[in-house]
Amino acid sequence: MLVDTHCHLHLLENYPEELDKILEENKKHGVTHLLNVAVALEDTPTQYKIAELDNVYISVGIHPNESPGKVYDYEDIKKAADHPKCIAIGETGLDYYRQDASEDITWQQARFVQHIDLCKELNKPMIIHSRHAKKDTINIMREHNARDVGGIMHCFTEDWEMAKQALDLGFHISFSGIVTFKNAKSVQEVALKMPLDRMLLETDCPYLTPEPFRGKPNQPAYVKYVAEGVAKLRNEPFETICQQTGENFFKLFEALI
Ligand code: NI
Repeated sequence: MLVDTHCHLHLLENYPEELDKILEENKKHGVTHLLNVAVALEDTPTQYKIAELDNVYISVGIHPNESPGKVYDYEDIKKAADHPKCIAIGETGLDYYRQDASEDITWQQARFVQHIDLCKELNKPMIIHSRHAKKDTINIMREHNARDVGGIMHCFTEDWEMAKQALDLGFHISFSGIVTFKNAKSVQEVALKMPLDRMLLETDCPYLTPEPFRGKPNQPAYVKYVAEGVAKLRNEPFETICQQTGENFFKLFEALI
């Protein structure tokens, strides 16, 4: 069992034309389940289409860099999330890397809180994207009791200090291909130190292709190389990493799958 807990099939250059090929590659690499993550509300019809695939689940939510400044109607997001295979809300969160934090970014924070509220109402875990916004992300999670909904710190790129705070809030930590990059020392430290029963793996494809394919197009099948990277780091069998992270996924979404 190997799960890609964060992919964007609909953003791949060869989707939908080569969907069969993408799924065939998954099979070849032992990838059994996918969570396809939304970045925009406009993704909803595509997400529903993708949800028709076996063992593929979806999320509904708006990425922090999507449509800067735009305020969304809570009810619109809620309506979109009302689908039997929508198991998570996101990706949401804060990104001060691509969004200049010296400008007004209260809209980004408000959208994050809106997603937390929705998770609480719908009883679905959340997928959090946080980049260059460590302190504010954790503060908002604490103030708005994100602990009650739980979820995933996706494509983790921060340090052990933040990982520890997210783990204390009951969150899972998901690693992308970054963990296989030679210079990603602080991310590797987190992957080494953290408890395996709270770890998840992802590709975040089409971005962040893991080694040994860094620089080439990414695909969900390559979550295998993320698992290999983590196995090597932790000096644990590849099978153990696949099995445990797969079980973690099913436990987190137990009530919805
Ligand atoms: Ni993503």
